[in-house]
Amino acid sequence: MPLPTEKVLQGQRALVTGGNSGIGAAVAHTLAMAGAKVAINYLSDRSSAESLVQKIKTAGGEALAVQADVSQEQAVQEMFQSVIQTWGSLDILVANAGVQQDAPLPEMSLAQWNQVLAVNLTGQFLCAREAVREFVRRGVTPELSCAAGKIICISSVHDIIPWAGHVNYAASKGGLLMFMKSLAQEVASEKIRVNGISPGAIRTPINRVAWDTPEAEAELLTLIPYGRVGDPIDIGRTAVWLASDASDYIIGTTLYVDGGMTLYPGFQEGG
Ligand code: BGC
Repeated sequence: MPLPTEKVLQGQRALVTGGNSGIGAAVAHTLAMAGAKVAINYLSDRSSAESLVQKIKTAGGEALAVQADVSQEQAVQEMFQSVIQTWGSLDILVANAGVQQDAPLPEMSLAQWNQVLAVNLTGQFLCAREAVREFVRRGVTPELSCAAGKIICISSVHDIIPWAGHVNYAASKGGLLMFMKSLAQEVASEKIRVNGISPGAIRTPINRVAWDTPEAEAELLTLIPYGRVGDPIDIGRTAVWLASDASDYIIGTTLYVDGGMTLYPGFQEGG
């Protein structure tokens, strides 16, 4: 699948949390190929973040790596300060960092519950708050974009599809859906666009067991009407569009990028 060739984000500055792997890495790379400078946040795997920075630079783009645990207030504030100091401001936040800690409910520990909520929901709050503060401070820069800033919350089809054995994850994503919409309503008058992307099953490390054998993949495909597992670049291309002025009138919307997973595929026959 081709990367975007049009520089629709030329000169804009983006931060992608969890940008060193999976969906985040594809989003960071795709934004950079669309002309944005991209700060790649990572938690602990510095070398993967640095190698993505190199890949982007080799392709003629601009990027830097920035460490922070998105669930920690001070770390998030320092990360935003450092990116804003380096590039002068910020135009795009892709709040992508997320984790799974799966267990049947009777066996789920409080630590598993808390960690998932802390990263997937509190992390979104902490990052969005810093981004909104910067967007409001700076306002619209017409040469760069019609909007003062764009926030893209990476959620999941499990913000609407219940998921047994994953109640912490589904609860975090369900919460994120209303966080995104409420924030979109709150800051639209500041010319800030907040939207969500809810990926389905995308081929990344987080769900490797669901696709890395032919049997697992065949089982997974029964849930995907379009007949293929998603590629991280499917999300990257969507993020470029949602961050660009091509989607300027889109506020508080979730794009389900899922090959039809949210269409109740069990009803393809019968019902
Ligand atoms: C989860 C994956 C899962 C997909 C579809 C994602 O949000 O992180 O593990 O494969 O939803 O169920």
